[in-house]
Amino acid sequence: MAKVLVTRRIPEAGLELLRAHFEVILNEADRALTRAELLEAVRDVDGVLCLLTDRIDAEVMAAAARARGFANHAVGFDNIDLAEATRRRLPVANTPGVLTDATAEMAWTLLFAVARRIVESDGEMRAGRWGGWGPLQFIGGDVTGRTLGVIGAGRIGQAVALKSRGFEMPVLYADEHPNETLERALGARRVSLDELLGQADFVSVHVPLTPATRHLIDARALGLMKRTAYLINTSRGPVVDEAALVRALRAGTIAGAGLDVYEDEPRMAEGLAGLANAVLAPHTGSATVTARDNMALKAARNLIAMVAGERAPDCLNPEVYGPC
Ligand code: GLV
Repeated sequence: MAKVLVTRRIPEAGLELLRAHFEVILNEADRALTRAELLEAVRDVDGVLCLLTDRIDAEVMAAAARARGFANHAVGFDNIDLAEATRRRLPVANTPGVLTDATAEMAWTLLFAVARRIVESDGEMRAGRWGGWGPLQFIGGDVTGRTLGVIGAGRIGQAVALKSRGFEMPVLYADEHPNETLERALGARRVSLDELLGQADFVSVHVPLTPATRHLIDARALGLMKRTAYLINTSRGPVVDEAALVRALRAGTIAGAGLDVYEDEPRMAEGLAGLANAVLAPHTGSATVTARDNMALKAARNLIAMVAGERAPDCLNPEVYGPC
């Protein structure tokens, strides 16, 4: 029976499906494998179901000499050296589609939480400091009718924009490609990044992490935002220069930030945790029952196909199946 590695416990639905096909080697500890453990664990398996916290690079691929592919339990795949995998004719797959709504909902959760100062006011209540209603307490930002700016209008960015309908928000988006769905459904306008940053009241980031998007939101970009605007990031931490963001939040050159991702997870930039105008979630954008079950199933199906030598449904480098 073929043997696969699952680098950390995923929802049971995915494990069950894998167990029906393979001997499953599961990291039972509820933590990511260390680098040394990962290099050892991949050694004699036929395939690997990995997580966004596992760095799958040339060294891991070389150690995984028997593996017929890597199935990432995430839609983002910046943790995997795709070019190297392709050179080695190793298929890599991700889990697109099934976490779109969950992640878009997280962007909206952060948007409302930071605009309406929910975490700050919740803290006040729990500390027993609230002395009763007052006209100047916890005044926040308006949402209805304010401009939403979406950076990256792919699946998740599009879903975030479409969910703005009830709030009658003009929508701007920045993307290298036009998004006809957004233009038709919302009258959304495609603008340059700088124009979006200068006009939006809420800037929500939805680009994958690539060399071109690392620090896309840097001190200069933050400096273009309105003092009353909020930044929401549910994509990847390194897309935002976190130290520059801390400076902007501290100086009040933007109103606030809602973050689900960090530049050097699980660490946060110095000073971020102490800022009342930041709402901080622990990379839980896809953490709903349905999204996580479906991610586990999708990753399992991709791995089953890879180990069988068949084209994985969500293969990111289908050229590995073609002729040399
Ligand atoms: C989560 O961050 C994912 O990429 O699935």
